[in-house]
Amino acid sequence: MSGHEPDETWWKTRSVYQIYPRSFRDANGDGMGDLAGITQGLSAIKALGAGIVWMSPIFRSPMVDNGYDMSGYREIDPLFGTMADFEALLAEAKRLDLNIVLDIALNHTSIDHPWFQAALADPSGPYRDYYIWRDEPNNWQSIFGGPAWSKADGDDAFYLHLFDKTQADLNWENPEVREEIYGAMRFWLDKGVSGFRLDVVTVISKPPGLPDAPDPRPMPLYDMLAGGPRLHEWLRDMRREVFDLYDCVAIGEGPGLNPERAAAIVNPADPMLHMIYHFDFVDHTGARQGKDWDRVWFKSVFDRWDKGIGPNGWNSCVVGNHDLRRLIARFGDAEADPDQVAKALAATYVLQRATPFIYQGDELGLGDTTITSVNELDDVWAKTTYRLARSKGQSEAEALAKAVAMTRDHARTPYPWTPEGGFGTGTPWLKPTPNRGGVDFASQQADEHSVWAFYRALLELRAKDTETWVFGAYEDLLPEHESLFAYRRGAQGVVCVNLGGQTCALPEAITALMAERSCILTSGEVTPTHMGPWSTHVWV
Ligand code: GLC
Repeated sequence: MSGHEPDETWWKTRSVYQIYPRSFRDANGDGMGDLAGITQGLSAIKALGAGIVWMSPIFRSPMVDNGYDMSGYREIDPLFGTMADFEALLAEAKRLDLNIVLDIALNHTSIDHPWFQAALADPSGPYRDYYIWRDEPNNWQSIFGGPAWSKADGDDAFYLHLFDKTQADLNWENPEVREEIYGAMRFWLDKGVSGFRLDVVTVISKPPGLPDAPDPRPMPLYDMLAGGPRLHEWLRDMRREVFDLYDCVAIGEGPGLNPERAAAIVNPADPMLHMIYHFDFVDHTGARQGKDWDRVWFKSVFDRWDKGIGPNGWNSCVVGNHDLRRLIARFGDAEADPDQVAKALAATYVLQRATPFIYQGDELGLGDTTITSVNELDDVWAKTTYRLARSKGQSEAEALAKAVAMTRDHARTPYPWTPEGGFGTGTPWLKPTPNRGGVDFASQQADEHSVWAFYRALLELRAKDTETWVFGAYEDLLPEHESLFAYRRGAQGVVCVNLGGQTCALPEAITALMAERSCILTSGEVTPTHMGPWSTHVWV
């Protein structure tokens, strides 16, 4: 062990695989992914080498935002199965030694939740204060577009909804709300889950008096709301009332955080959450995607977060998820070999000093899907984007192009298990991504040169040499280089990735390190002096 005394806690040494339950595997043939399907698929995750499985929400929900609009915190949605199915899933996870992490939306509930319904039915009753009401709205805009305030039919006041109008923000100032959420989390932890991913947890504490925002657009609004005055107090409460009572992990989704704000939340000396993930890679405007994204900026994000949290506290590394277009579409190059691109991108984030999060399908190099009509959109955010564009007079084609450029549906298509699809026997709820050939689990598991095999090799390195690849200090060796991403881990580890379509000469600083080391993993064309397009080399 090196001098910095790594602590081998499971949520640091294990890697995370994120499942989108609707799209992972359909066991009962109704076209919708389900818990029994996930249970069948866990062994594939184990074979890949991930140790923690985070599932997007499986709780009762009208599914306007596919489960992020919860109407029951202690129930499984019937679309996904029953509590018995969930218990079977947990038993299989235990058998395979996988930790299950659930996703809980605690900033808001669906307006179908019995609490909201009771709040409407009896405005002077106790549930009214579970939500946030005003006679006149302020200027906040919903993250999904349009005003963040709506009135329910027959009701006099506006309720706050930072997301869709069916997702009413909870009033965390009310201690009963906090107790309800803590109790729900303990309920699942008692069943044997290993923790939670806390949806948009950074915005639960609203500024007193709910003042107008200087800039009410989504990202500036997130900046304004993240880290509200009582956030730390409530996170400490949550830690004491819930997380400290179990061997579990609490992962906060962190819109609006910079490394300084995040460091306060994961500071081991004043612990609140175990990990936070940031939004620096989240870009719904599309400015930083496609061919011309800025490599120097991309690298600087890793460096900034490692410097901010790495030496004290623990980072997570989320580059792709269910809210974003596919990795290879955002950070690729349409003219390059997509498999090479997928492998190169994998090497940028899986070996960081952080717990890496692999989003279902990225380990196959799955790309964006094709959407040719508004009827093919499922994502509530994309549908809102389309509707607002139309209402501003944009043509159908313009509005559709805008929605297709940002829709989260790209990441949510059914998981390709076999060359024919293999998701299930029914017609899938969302049209599968057209297969460019070979982008399926069965083919890739059988091919030692596949993207899947490359991810497995990266995860194996991480699991076998934790001193280097989990805990080793991080240093960006060529921060200004426009194509090469070269970084050092600990005393021995060096990763060099060519993030561009041209062959690159290796600077002397890199060839010197290469000369003293052996290559343990490679993809693409690498010589002692050059790296081919989208090539990767790992040395120790
Ligand atoms: C988070 C989720 C996203 C959801 C939103 C509202 O950002 O990842 O899918 O729509 O919160 O709950």
